[in-house]
Amino acid sequence: MFFIKLFTIFFLSFFWQSLKSSSQITDFTYNGFHPPLTNIAIQGITTVTPKGLLKLTNTTMQSTGHAFYTKPIRFKDSPNGTVSSFSTTFVFAIHPQNPLVGTHGMAFVIAPSSSLPFATFGQYLGLFNVTNNGNVRNHVFAVEFDTIMNMVLNDTNNNHVGIDINSLNSVESSPAGYWDEKDQFNNLTLISQKRMQVWINYDGRTHRIDVTMAPFSENKPRKPLVSIVRDLSSVLLEYMFVGFSSSTGNIVSEHFVLGWSFRVNGEAQPLALSKLPRLPVWDLNPTRAYSFYKNWVPLISVLLISLLFIIFLVRFILRRRRKFAEELEDWETEFGKNRLRFKDLYYATKGFKEKNLLGSGGFGRVYKGFMPKTKKDIAVKRVSNESRQGLKEFVAEIVSIGQMSHRNLVPLVGYCRRRDELLLVYDYMPNGSLDKYLYNNPEVTLNWKQRFKVINGVASGLFYLHEEWEQVVIHRDVKASNVLLDAELNGRLGDFGLSQLCDHGSDPQTTHIVGTWGYLAPDHIRTGRATTGTDVFAFGVLLLEVACGRRPIEIDNESGERVVLVDRVLRFWMEGNILDSKDPNLGSEYDQREVEMVLKLGLLCSHPDPQARPTIRQVLHYLRGDAMLPDLSPLDLRGNGMMLGNHHGSSESAMFTSGSSVAYSLLSSGR
Ligand SMILES: Nc1ncnc2c1ncn2[C@@H]1O[C@H](COP(=O)(O)OP(=O)(O)OP(=O)(O)O)[C@@H](O)[C@H]1O
Ligand SMILES: *[C@@H]1O[C@H](CO)[C@@H](O)[C@H](O)[C@H]1NC(C)=O
Ligand SMILES: *[C@@H]1O[C@H](CO)[C@@H](O)[C@H](O)[C@H]1NC(C)=O
Ligand SMILES: *[C@@H]1O[C@H](CO)[C@@H](O)[C@H](O)[C@H]1NC(C)=O
Ligand SMILES: *[C@@H]1O[C@H](CO)[C@@H](O)[C@H](O)[C@H]1NC(C)=O
Ligand SMILES: *[C@@H]1O[C@H](CO)[C@@H](O)[C@H](O)[C@H]1NC(C)=O
Ligand SMILES: [Mg+2]
Repeated sequence: MFFIKLFTIFFLSFFWQSLKSSSQITDFTYNGFHPPLTNIAIQGITTVTPKGLLKLTNTTMQSTGHAFYTKPIRFKDSPNGTVSSFSTTFVFAIHPQNPLVGTHGMAFVIAPSSSLPFATFGQYLGLFNVTNNGNVRNHVFAVEFDTIMNMVLNDTNNNHVGIDINSLNSVESSPAGYWDEKDQFNNLTLISQKRMQVWINYDGRTHRIDVTMAPFSENKPRKPLVSIVRDLSSVLLEYMFVGFSSSTGNIVSEHFVLGWSFRVNGEAQPLALSKLPRLPVWDLNPTRAYSFYKNWVPLISVLLISLLFIIFLVRFILRRRRKFAEELEDWETEFGKNRLRFKDLYYATKGFKEKNLLGSGGFGRVYKGFMPKTKKDIAVKRVSNESRQGLKEFVAEIVSIGQMSHRNLVPLVGYCRRRDELLLVYDYMPNGSLDKYLYNNPEVTLNWKQRFKVINGVASGLFYLHEEWEQVVIHRDVKASNVLLDAELNGRLGDFGLSQLCDHGSDPQTTHIVGTWGYLAPDHIRTGRATTGTDVFAFGVLLLEVACGRRPIEIDNESGERVVLVDRVLRFWMEGNILDSKDPNLGSEYDQREVEMVLKLGLLCSHPDPQARPTIRQVLHYLRGDAMLPDLSPLDLRGNGMMLGNHHGSSESAMFTSGSSVAYSLLSSGR
């Protein structure tokens, strides 16, 4: 019985032993981890991709990932025996999320169990934790591929390979790389996303541990990268588990194993590199330039574009501001309601377009415009005023006259002041200025009734300025082009006071006279002073113009001589037929007495002697027929011979410009 029992025990133990040895694992090879995957256990954030990649970590932060061959490997023949030779090779790749920083690396590991439950993430690579790091009872052997330089763990750089025994403080380490045929060292960058192959060999007899690596598909270099002699007998137990460990920190990398082969007591079977699964498609050659391009160029372009946009915007606003800039001073506040915005005028005249130009005179250009607010047509006169002298008085006068609203004055809508510019805004006069109906064979002429009405209108406008307004206002520039015709062909005086702007010469040696040649009274030229009398003189010239349809001074086509209108009318009168000087365009429908009266009144008004001229009040009486013109002879009107344009005195030195305002200086020494 005893023997049977003994035999049974012996037999069973033998059977168990043989069973055990027959199932003993000595090697395995994975050319990819294609499903159905057998004998590999994964833990933590490790996954196996459908394409057969063993993905130790994904992009979950602060985690560990493990993959172990599930069956124990017998490293010793007996618990107290020596460790047998073993060899392993695998292909891996690391894809860091940030191309310049990898965390934290990965390791090939031989551990007493197929899980490392206490191991932590980050720098501990899923192998150890802060308390058991370095503990001899760990019985852990690992080869780390570390992408972080950790001072505490005595790392040499952020791209190294190290042999770890029970501790992450490597017993031996080296920057990642390989020695080529010519014994030259070549760096390898672990986080380059490129595939690399690793060989780890342990010689059970010599206790030499060799770690070798090379770029994918290159032969195993003869010279190992890291090599030490260390008896692992005290480290490894009889049965151990082999696998990989990896971890992530706050920055993450994906760690991949593509293929793996292992053998105890012999050389691991080479991997069939062509059968290994493909890595996901990343940027194939992520050079620094590329990552720069990828990360910074879009950002920089966006910044540049916004910067350009802002510059453009600021310039636009500044330009707009400058374009519409105005000047407003304290004294102007009382004219506030007459003040107009330049911007409104700009848009009203469609940006002072050439098409809107009505004409230009001695002071500037006049543009037609339309004010949407009041739905009124306007005429905008741009006067350049470099000398700011008298501007205040002028604006005050302009505005007060503008408030007069006499039916024979062109209403002033308002004004605007800019850097060197004054803008005066008037009602638009649809029938334009009187001069257009008088000279140079005009398309439209006025009949006598219309002309007489205009003359009367201008006279009462001038009378209003001289006598009816609270102070005496001198127009200074009475002439045909400043008489505008409204819709009912009423004559309205415009441009009052403008010449005054330039008439404030402070130098006693030079008196600046502004007016229009041909309308300037001799006494005005002599004294440089504008008076109501000089206005009457100009009005007289205007009367002659209207009646004769001629300019005050014309050049005779044949002789080339100057023909002064006053002289011409006088000559006709002296020849006994003053009516012959009238405008032939008048036709036959006219009142002879009226025409004759207007011609004689014109001569009387433009008398060289200011004392001989009537006042505008008297002129009105004559025109209205309230008083009879005194009986005059042409010789009475020759006066002292100081007739304008009569080749006398200072008129010679004056510039001759027909019709337009001139400013000229008279040296007092010339008198
Ligand atoms: N309110 C207005 N409505 C319609 N047309 C106007 C108005 N004001 C001026 N104009 C037109 O613009 C032209 C130019 O006027 P501007 O006053 O600048 O010149 P001018 O009268 O010939 O000379 P001056 O500078 O001596 O007044 C005028 O001839 C007239 O045809
Ligand atoms: C990483 O893998 C783990 C385990 O499969 C999973 O729970 C987690 O959601 C994954 N994380 C990401 C970011 O894919
Ligand atoms: C192994 O070694 C331990 C102590 O080192 C000893 O106690 C044990 O008996 C040994 N076992 C064998 C089978 O030799
Ligand atoms: C570290 O691991 C050991 C086991 O190896 C465990 O006893 C210990 O509690 C762990 N320490 C921490 C801080 O996790
Ligand atoms: C790490 O390096 C320091 C100084 O170089 C040394 O004192 C320490 O012993 C090293 N630690 C390990 C575990 O090698
Ligand atoms: C290899 O890397 C080391 C340290 O990172 C560096 O000093 C060396 O210049 C590199 N060599 C080459 C050939 O790139
Ligand atoms: Mg004018």
